[in-house]
Amino acid sequence: MLGRKPIIAANWKMHKTLAESETFIREFRAILPDPGAAEVVICPPATALSAVARAIEGTPYKLSAQNVYWEKSGAFTGEISPLQLKDVGCHYVIIGHSERRQYFAENDQTVSLKLKAAFAAGIVPILCVGESRAERETGRTDEVVSRQVRAALVGLRAAEVSAMVVAYEPIWAIGTGLAATAADAQAVAGLIREAAAALVGREGAESLRIQYGGSVKPENTAEFMVQPDIDGALVGGASLEAASFAGIVRAAGC
Ligand code: PGA
Repeated sequence: MLGRKPIIAANWKMHKTLAESETFIREFRAILPDPGAAEVVICPPATALSAVARAIEGTPYKLSAQNVYWEKSGAFTGEISPLQLKDVGCHYVIIGHSERRQYFAENDQTVSLKLKAAFAAGIVPILCVGESRAERETGRTDEVVSRQVRAALVGLRAAEVSAMVVAYEPIWAIGTGLAATAADAQAVAGLIREAAAALVGREGAESLRIQYGGSVKPENTAEFMVQPDIDGALVGGASLEAASFAGIVRAAGC
């Protein structure tokens, strides 16, 4: 981790009503009023951003959206702009999650547009990258992840890259209960840092925080967190219950 602040994010995906979101925050605050060394980020669905923003007021927890559009405003029915996310209190936004790439036709080009738009509005991106099972099995992991990172980061300033977060999420590990081994995750995290260094220099790449995501739970968090290039976790299923998410944050508090 080398002095980088651990960052643990709860990606609720398309789960939780307003009442459920508020209950989670109430329970989570009671279990873990102080996350210690770790930075805690809550990524509710868009409908609950405003309610969660209110519920985490006065806590160190930060708010993140799960997606964003790249235009400032206009006739884009159903989309949400970076300025609107900023307005509702988002500090972070997840960009390029594999579910968005897979089901909603996002690609390296739209991911790049979204990253630039988020930075322009003062929102820090959590960029998701990762290979499919077929890509891993045919030995293409490094090539795919390097391509995704290069396409996303090209044109960004070193200061932007050093401030952002990249989540390495192998698609085959998401929601399957089958996490990557810590050694495999570290190998790809190292590769991501090298790809970033090649674009913006060593200094910017050293501050970049890299999360592992894919079937993270309280019991396996610590083994990822001790890896030199892994600085946190992006958590789906195990972030839906306050006790389980708190267990992950505790395990990452290092
Ligand atoms: P999971 O999801 O923790 O349920 O595997 C991770 C993610 O998609 O961010």
